[in-house]
Amino acid sequence: MQISNYKTQQEKIVCTTVMPTRMTPGMLEDIRESLLRKPRSLSPKYFYDQRGSSLFDQICSTPEYYPTRTENKLLSRHAVDIINKTTPDQILELGSGYSTKTRLLFDACQQTTNECIYVPLDVCEEVLVEVSKRLSEEYDWLVVNPLLGDYHAGLGNLPASHGSHLFVFLGSTIGNFEQEDALDFIKEVHKTMCYGDHLLIGVDRVKDNDVLHDAYNDAQGMTAEFNLNILHVLNRELNADFNIDMFTHSATFNAYKERIEMRLISRANQHVNINDLNESIQFNLGDDILTEVSQKYTYKGIEEMLKQADFTITEHYEDENAYFSLILVSK
Ligand code: AVJ
Repeated sequence: MQISNYKTQQEKIVCTTVMPTRMTPGMLEDIRESLLRKPRSLSPKYFYDQRGSSLFDQICSTPEYYPTRTENKLLSRHAVDIINKTTPDQILELGSGYSTKTRLLFDACQQTTNECIYVPLDVCEEVLVEVSKRLSEEYDWLVVNPLLGDYHAGLGNLPASHGSHLFVFLGSTIGNFEQEDALDFIKEVHKTMCYGDHLLIGVDRVKDNDVLHDAYNDAQGMTAEFNLNILHVLNRELNADFNIDMFTHSATFNAYKERIEMRLISRANQHVNINDLNESIQFNLGDDILTEVSQKYTYKGIEEMLKQADFTITEHYEDENAYFSLILVSK
């Protein structure tokens, strides 16, 4: 079915920058605090430069990385139901990346003739602009208003708009937060929403260790490349001199915390200069940097968190293996 042509043509994609709501350290300060202190860590948000975004996309199509496939399956099964239940005027996506899965929602909008505006929020401007342009061309009824920003810095300055909103936070990105931070973030999303708005959130479930382990140690080595890419980002952005070959990828399941922990491990005793910080780091063989945590949730755990943030559960979609959950909630 065709949607009435209310968008004659979206000539130019204008990317709006979202100002931070709260003070977050800039990259220099942030890296100084996390990398120079022990235990060493880096925020996973630094993975996603252009190459990192593309590598992540490649991870998603490895046979081992089940989350994307499973979430996709759930979305294609239930997208029409989701659109019917939410009838959004706006779909606002937190951490949109390549917006690959979101297309299933646009297809459902097309099927149900639900015209809407797409507002992707992401930290990588190049990807954001390129994807927005392509989507706007492919879906001739879809108006795309991209937002450049970091949801870690707060959602208080998202542009206000009328109508009903469907917030989407897919891919189990929530897993990157420590558990208390996850609840705070969900509460913040709740605060940003208007009464009657919905949130669709994708959450990866606790499951068999081997399945989890393999998903973060794919045979093609895409995850390893993605993990190591963060060092390329530091070399470029902070004038650092990491020798990428001198670090190895590691991803293990921490059964106690029910999360994958991704690290880079030093393959030798070595010295690395971070020129823009005027610092150098001594790594000994086996020293590590924690680059990402990927929390896995039980359904009870997610339900609890969403209820604590005052959300009402509209629908819970899961696959036959209970590998992944898509939860639709309302404020
Ligand atoms: C985008 C955070 C959901 O944790 O599975 C994939 C990132 N890291 N493989 C995840 C990731 C390594 C991904 N999230």
